[in-house]
Amino acid sequence: MKIAFGCDHAGFEAPEPFYAPEIVRYMESLGHEVANCGTHGPDSVDYPDFANAVSAKVLSGECVYGVLLCGTGMGISIAANRHKGIRAAACVTPEMVSLARDHNNANVLCLGRRISSLKECLRLVEIFFSTPFSNGERHVRRIQKMG
Ligand code: RB5
Repeated sequence: MKIAFGCDHAGFEAPEPFYAPEIVRYMESLGHEVANCGTHGPDSVDYPDFANAVSAKVLSGECVYGVLLCGTGMGISIAANRHKGIRAAACVTPEMVSLARDHNNANVLCLGRRISSLKECLRLVEIFFSTPFSNGERHVRRIQKMG
């Protein structure tokens, strides 16, 4: 699958290993192609810019999913969810991720550098990609109500 990735400077927050390159490498090791929308270093940037870039790639169909990272996962998910058709889920636990896919058909996963360990982030990414939407009638109806 082609995945869009984006983060703010939290993706390069010390101490190493920096989360952004590790997450990109992990997604590639799973066999995915990654469109890396940046940022690419520790200089302070604005997370909406990267949420917007990743959202555009998902909405255009160029990428199947997006993965976003900021300090908490919250700012960047709020920004992504401003785009109609983006269902961005800020997740901390495996259960949140599997339900975000199963019930909400989330198309963007948002992670928090200051909330989750790198190992936890990689596990959340793996679950996100491997969990299908249930296509349950009530879930489809609820998603349609969001436009
Ligand atoms: C940046 O310092 C921080 O505010 C951002 O990464 C994110 O946590 C916002 O929600």
